[in-house]
Amino acid sequence: MFQGKTLTITTIEAGLVELHFDNTDKPVNVFNRATVAELGMALDVLEKAPGIQGMLVTSGKKVFVAGADITEFETAFTSSKEELKGFLWANNSNLNRLETLPFPVVVAINGFALGGGFEFCLACDFRVMASVAQVGFPEVGLGILPGWGGTVRAPRMVEFAAAVEWVTGGGQHKAADALAQGFVDAVVSPESLREEALSILRQAMAGELDYRALRLAKQGALDVDQSAFAETASTLRAAVVRQAGKHYPAPVAAVDAMIQAAPLTRDQALDVEFDAFYQLAQSPQARALIGLFMADQQLSAVARKYASASPAPAARVAVLGAGIMGGGIAYQNALKGFSVLMKDINQAALDLGMKEAGTILSKRVERGAMTEDAAAKVLSSIEPTLDYDDIAGCDMIIEAVVEKEVVKKAVLAEVEKLVPSSTVLASNTSSILITSIATALERPENFCGMHFFNPVHAMPLVEVVRGEKTSDETVARAVAHVLAMGKKAVVVKDCNGFLVNRVLFPYFAGFNLLMRDGADFEQIDRVMEDWGWPMGPAYLLDVIGIDVAVHAADVVAEGYPDRLTMDFAQASHLMYENKRFGQKNGKGFYAYERNDKGRTVKVSDPETWTLLAPHVAPRREFSDEEIIARMMIPMCTEMVRCLDEEITGSPAEGDMSLLYGIGFPKFRGGVLRWLDEIGLSAFCTMADRYSHLGGLYQPTQSMRDMALGGKRYY
Ligand code: 3HC
Repeated sequence: MFQGKTLTITTIEAGLVELHFDNTDKPVNVFNRATVAELGMALDVLEKAPGIQGMLVTSGKKVFVAGADITEFETAFTSSKEELKGFLWANNSNLNRLETLPFPVVVAINGFALGGGFEFCLACDFRVMASVAQVGFPEVGLGILPGWGGTVRAPRMVEFAAAVEWVTGGGQHKAADALAQGFVDAVVSPESLREEALSILRQAMAGELDYRALRLAKQGALDVDQSAFAETASTLRAAVVRQAGKHYPAPVAAVDAMIQAAPLTRDQALDVEFDAFYQLAQSPQARALIGLFMADQQLSAVARKYASASPAPAARVAVLGAGIMGGGIAYQNALKGFSVLMKDINQAALDLGMKEAGTILSKRVERGAMTEDAAAKVLSSIEPTLDYDDIAGCDMIIEAVVEKEVVKKAVLAEVEKLVPSSTVLASNTSSILITSIATALERPENFCGMHFFNPVHAMPLVEVVRGEKTSDETVARAVAHVLAMGKKAVVVKDCNGFLVNRVLFPYFAGFNLLMRDGADFEQIDRVMEDWGWPMGPAYLLDVIGIDVAVHAADVVAEGYPDRLTMDFAQASHLMYENKRFGQKNGKGFYAYERNDKGRTVKVSDPETWTLLAPHVAPRREFSDEEIIARMMIPMCTEMVRCLDEEITGSPAEGDMSLLYGIGFPKFRGGVLRWLDEIGLSAFCTMADRYSHLGGLYQPTQSMRDMALGGKRYY
């Protein structure tokens, strides 16, 4: 009856039709402009066709519909209010028309139905969901709210509190949850989805299910007792405000729109939803979060491109050096189905590595994410060993021995002699130059860096470091392996600190300079956490381990003496010299204690100041603005240098690396996106105010040129 590029309508039997989403141009179904237009045309056909008594909606892809096409947002959101309204109204009108078709509509949700995909389902009369599918409203995670009637239909179909929780929480919900909350009418096995959906449709067609009454309820005001509702609404709103935090306005805007629209009809409520959507679409948070989605797509696409040149996946992996990092790397490989040899020179380290892997697995079992049998199988695929007997059978070697160049060189050179010439050797170093380690090897082309972040199982990123002699094939095989390990891979060029640490350590240097000048680290932490960082710099140093951080800082500094050589006693180094290694030994900038729940908590420790006082200026308050500027300028300029020197391939890869590697605040979208947001000209003016602090505070020439030309990184 209708044949589009994204959807079709066919006749199943007399009176019964099927609307089928299957976008021929995309890997997933999305409501892009083309689909919305075709849905409009399909509705024209459906409204006019005689004799239709019922319609089944299905999807030809694994994902039912993944919502609006996020890649279209930037253009839509920077257009006028009227144009944005037109963009959204095109589909709102579709969904309203769906709700007035002269026959019942049942949707069979086979996979993810998210955002606009789920909003479409809510406009259907009945929803049958496969047990493996998931539904939800992820819009708040993009800094917006549902714009195709999600805030309108959800509260008219389920309990108000549940609707608020789903819309403002942004989560993906399993079938059982969707059924319990009343978002769907039935949950069935994937195999019987079509039949069950058709059976419900036939009942509705036979008048056994009253779809017209359901439509009426969706089109009127919320059916609630107004005085009780006011109280519920204000309690719910307070909870949303608490949960969202001050940097994320979308959840609060969503609950406000839902409360405001409660006494209104569907069409009036859609206007309220649009006004709130429009406000959010203009916010820096939406720009940042949507930008992140696009940057993440780019990061994955670049990695896939590298990996596509890999001749074959690794068959057997060896991890050299057990312990926390080695154990974590061995675990991650085993979890993803690799057979792993874990080699160390001492039994105690091997025991620690196996214990590390075992602990992570037990936690998965406790969480219900894995059965005991599966966990045991994973653990048994790690073979701890004290010798190199089986190493020749490994085609991917990941070295994770102590962070000392001589030791790494010796271990890698020894192993290189034992493995075939096709084996890839990778070093998990966080700071030593790959090109320098490679001088110990006979086949430096087979060698690269593979920088994991701690804890390996939890941190999503791995930097694949290309040394001067690393071959393209080695990079391709390393990236393919990182992806096969379930991690995000970013390829960076070799330099002191690679990308993430090179950008992080100037930030710590900014911290030490502030401390030198009399700042209070607790104030710095408060201000930077308030700015959005998950933890302030002093706390972060304590968590990383002051010993580890100081060692890495010194190695990174060697590469950039013009800006990282410090001629004063640095606060971080003073902690180190006084054996205050941070959380790991109970004392760093803060002291660490166990609270009544057995959790480690940080507390102020006057001794820190006794140690610092002789070396720093008298303590004084700094303005928040100065703290932010003095912390962020060094980080931003270093990121730009990395871009200029092609350490990172693109702004998107650079920004995503900091986000995944060190938790850069999401709502700011990344270092370079933040620069775009504040403007390079304003940034240069700000940096120039601090130029007396040295090289860390000098914008690069490229920044000044871009500022003059009014250019942006994105
Ligand atoms: N828009 C544009 N592209 C999308 C997309 C979307 N909504 N959803 C997925 N894609 C792309 C992915 O980026 C990826 O592209 P790539 O192949 O070029 O890297 C491709 O489709 C396949 O996606 P995944 O690799 O992520 O596939 P998975 O099977 O792992 O995951 C998913 C599927 C859970 C649906 C996941 O893709 C996802 O979470 N997508 C985003 C969903 C979302 O946020 N939707 C809300 C949109 S906002 C909205 O609907 C507004 C409305 O209310 C007005």
